[in-house]
Amino acid sequence: MSTQNPRRVERQQTDKGYVPVYTTAVVEQPWDDYSAADHRTWATLFQRQREVLKGRACREFIENQERFGMRADAIPRFEDLNRVLNYTTGWEVVGVEGLLPELEFFKHLSNRRFPVTWWIRRPEQLDYLAEPDLFHDLFGHVPLLLNPVFANYMQAYGQGGVKAYGIGADALVNLTRLYWYTVEFGLIRQDGDLRIYGSGIVSSKGESIHCLESPAPNRIAFDMERIMRTRYRIDTFQKTYFVIDSFEQLMDATAPDFTPIYARLARQDSIPAGAVLDSDTVIQRGSGEGWAKDGDV
Ligand SMILES: [Fe+2]
Repeated sequence: MSTQNPRRVERQQTDKGYVPVYTTAVVEQPWDDYSAADHRTWATLFQRQREVLKGRACREFIENQERFGMRADAIPRFEDLNRVLNYTTGWEVVGVEGLLPELEFFKHLSNRRFPVTWWIRRPEQLDYLAEPDLFHDLFGHVPLLLNPVFANYMQAYGQGGVKAYGIGADALVNLTRLYWYTVEFGLIRQDGDLRIYGSGIVSSKGESIHCLESPAPNRIAFDMERIMRTRYRIDTFQKTYFVIDSFEQLMDATAPDFTPIYARLARQDSIPAGAVLDSDTVIQRGSGEGWAKDGDV
């Protein structure tokens, strides 16, 4: 199979805006078809982020990238990653054409399969891309799948997603916020300092620096129900980051049945992305500098 172009089916208007829709089938990574420019894009982004993430990313992220043998030289082969995953946490990376419909995505996670977009952004898109590509999915998400606790959290999230899908749209909104503020944009406290573990951060040079060093955003201790009520930004850096103490804390939070939690949340208002509540454990209150007034989702 393999082609240089993802089989983008069409664009479709959804509640998340005008988004590309792809075939949902699992595809083989067309490794031999990556161009020299594709490998160069990987190399540029890899070197740049590894430099930026020194002393900023959590230790598990860096250690696990090394255990996978990820290097700047070439785009990793999914089959090589899978050999390592297979004998550690039993996860598997599967190739996909792009962002999947929610239910498909949840089903993959609940079966310990992580979908990775096979194509990489173009050189002129180094700094920003609205949708996930290979660099975001592979560099950002795959390393923590080697951590046994985080790997279990990802599966629990997938199982929770399948269940929430059956409960209704509001439950899905609540659950998606949890993913956003943990898996994509989470911070963790390690050795007394804040470190990054969220994939949306580690795959972005600007946000890797902003999330730790800018005075603008709030940094608030993890509180699951609070997070599930909190709206977020898809078009700017986050106004608030939530900080966990350990991956075990995440796993423990997902242990209860979410059904009564969804019912409780349905009776409460959502919280703006930049708000600080009296009940929050505030690690650092943001200055709010440069924030757009609207656009939370
Ligand atoms: Fe992601």
